[in-house]
Amino acid sequence: MEEWPCFASAAGWIKEGTSMAESRKKRIGLLTSGGDCAGLNAAIRAVVCRAVNGYGWEVMGIHEGTAGLLQRPALVEELGMRVFTGNILRMGGTILGTVNKGNPFAYPMADGSTKDRSDEVVEAMHDQKLDALIGIGGDGSMAILSRLTHQGDIPFIGIPKTIDNDVAFTEWAIGFNTAVSVATDALDRLQPTAASHHRVMILEVMGRDAGHIALNAGIAGGANVILIPEIPYDIQKVADYILGLQQKGRTHALVICAEAVKTSTGESVYGGRSKEAPRYGGIGNVIGEQIEELTGAETRVTILGHVARGGIPVAMDRMLASAFGVHAVDLLAQGKRDRMVVWQHREVVDVPIEEVITRMRAVDVDGTLVRTARGLGISFGD
Ligand code: F6P
Repeated sequence: MEEWPCFASAAGWIKEGTSMAESRKKRIGLLTSGGDCAGLNAAIRAVVCRAVNGYGWEVMGIHEGTAGLLQRPALVEELGMRVFTGNILRMGGTILGTVNKGNPFAYPMADGSTKDRSDEVVEAMHDQKLDALIGIGGDGSMAILSRLTHQGDIPFIGIPKTIDNDVAFTEWAIGFNTAVSVATDALDRLQPTAASHHRVMILEVMGRDAGHIALNAGIAGGANVILIPEIPYDIQKVADYILGLQQKGRTHALVICAEAVKTSTGESVYGGRSKEAPRYGGIGNVIGEQIEELTGAETRVTILGHVARGGIPVAMDRMLASAFGVHAVDLLAQGKRDRMVVWQHREVVDVPIEEVITRMRAVDVDGTLVRTARGLGISFGD
């Protein structure tokens, strides 16, 4: 990529009467935090392009999220355009690494206790002489990073990412569209084998406590049944619906189910435990067994899991990540802080971060997509 000239003096950052040459080069920290997803590298690239080429700032890439700032020396490297060899826009994962555990305010210690290590993170940010921080993360990361930067009096701008798409105020978070595309592809692949064997295929997808992936992919991939945590279901109704399909001559069915859907007796199903929290996983197996029992149909279960997080980002995620990265840097240049960039009505805008971290965006059960699914005759089992 061509190097741009430094074209702006970063209004709000350079004191009046101080020339660019006199003032120290501004230095921003950049980290990814929380579960990875496709499109993070595109966002990193956009931040570096805008900050380095656009404003002449330095960007310090922080490795392993806040865990990198607990190490001594801190895991930090300068990110210049030389880091990018042409393929970063297309790459899944994050070149900076990330963590979704080890909250510095309640850091899990070896003896099972927790310790507040936030001062160490703040100390590292000051040691690195960061004038601001850009954090790419989900709602949990936004809350932690916002608290840390307040503690250190460092301007903070957040960029939302998560396959779960549950961050408030933004129609899309980075990674969601790729995850939906992967889940849709899984349904595309399950349909022919379901049809060949006259089976009911159950696809379980991630999404934490929100059913956005299941709902979007279920519509796009032609599911007959969509089960999401926001709409309580009755397994007998799901079975009756599948039997009804059989009676109409349909020899197979596709069911997509979000990982946080509860069993018919109201329990969550967990596939394991990380140090800090249980992890969802396995509700598809429970539902598959029940459908087999109640309908007599042969069922098979696929748990998509982390497959939806990996791979090449779809065009929408690359575009979103690029727009978010540029806007985040522009906000700092305007002297703004404590904002999160969001996508609303075909535009990138920004909202106060404290409003984001007190909310979660679940599926709107009266919204367009639920109405669309119902209009198509898809069952939610309710
Ligand atoms: O928040 C993203 C997400 O992929 C969720 O959909 C899922 O429940 C969780 O992270 C899995 O976390 P881990 O990568 O720790 O297994």
